[in-house]
Amino acid sequence: RQTERESLYIALNYAKTFFQDHLLKTDEGRGIGLSYFRERGFSDPTIAAFDLGYSPDSWDALLTDAQAKGYNPDVLAKAGLTVTREDSKKVFDRFRGRVMFPIHNVSGRVIAFGARILKADPKAPKYLNSPETDVYHKSQVLYGIFQAKQTIRQEDICYLTEGYTDVISLHQAGIKNVVASSGTSLTIEQIRLISRFTQNVTILYDGDAAGVKAALRGLDMVLEEGLNVSVATFPDNDDPDSYVRKVGAEAFRTYLKGNTQNFIAFKTAALLRDAGADPFKRAEVITEIVGSISRIPDPIKRQVFFQSTAQQLKVDEQTLISESNRLIRKQR
Ligand code: CTP
Ligand code: MN
Ligand code: MN
Ligand code: MN
Ligand code: MN
Repeated sequence: RQTERESLYIALNYAKTFFQDHLLKTDEGRGIGLSYFRERGFSDPTIAAFDLGYSPDSWDALLTDAQAKGYNPDVLAKAGLTVTREDSKKVFDRFRGRVMFPIHNVSGRVIAFGARILKADPKAPKYLNSPETDVYHKSQVLYGIFQAKQTIRQEDICYLTEGYTDVISLHQAGIKNVVASSGTSLTIEQIRLISRFTQNVTILYDGDAAGVKAALRGLDMVLEEGLNVSVATFPDNDDPDSYVRKVGAEAFRTYLKGNTQNFIAFKTAALLRDAGADPFKRAEVITEIVGSISRIPDPIKRQVFFQSTAQQLKVDEQTLISESNRLIRKQR
């Protein structure tokens, strides 16, 4: 088992180098891939720091090169690098004609790839990702954790974004304590990974409805793990990547300072907005928020949130506390 996993790591590392070489050393890679990254404002050191690459637009460039170098085709398939056509049983490269984002584990080994299409195409997904393999379990991974971990510890805070390019652009702007959940809702394993380095998380999700929904989803889990969670939202149609490129590093930091809300306050405001003036819906909001606060393990923190939420909801603090006690009794 151990040696089988090791052979996957070796194949994935080979593929990483293959894609890097194609990005930097071939006319196709430079003309298509490198100019794409440059257009997005990625500098050479940034491209190197994230091991970015390019997969040639060919059915079997990687497969042919790998076999010539002695790699076992079964290992390439198990690493998610090739796929087998169902009808003809023909084997070909999974990633073709895309810019490549290697995904590293916490110790820096490549375990998977994200691959972005160059031109929008309604018939193809924008990002194609590695499948689950013996070394890649999507729900346990945070993109960028290897590049971010030291700064997360130093600054004692982790910024959590949605996407690969958010991590890369913020890193380039000097904000290096940033990771991405890569479009999935946050899992308990990802939270525990963050909590190895800090207890403070600020969510920087996209400024669209989906981003707000994603921020709300699963966040009770984070509270339960005892982490301090805040949320900063971006203007509609912006994500951290587009916003930092628009305003620059300095203004981005200022924006964060002015627009970061504690998670409970964020959730309360979002739910109240949806409830409008309907008193029944407003009552449901109270129950929902009390439910979230009740998950926080630390009683002192809970107390602080009851106070601030009482003000925000314009209800008596004691009402919130007795509702919370009722919920906790019910759970037992
Ligand atoms: N994602 C994915 N597959 C897709 C679309 C998105 O896996 N078809 C994941 C990727 O990890 C992506 C993240 O979800 O980075 C966020 O999606 P989105 O906001 O649409 O992409 P961006 O990261 O903003 O990418 P770009 O700026 O290149 O459009
Ligand atoms: Mn495993
Ligand atoms: Mn989005
Ligand atoms: Mn984007
Ligand atoms: Mn985005």
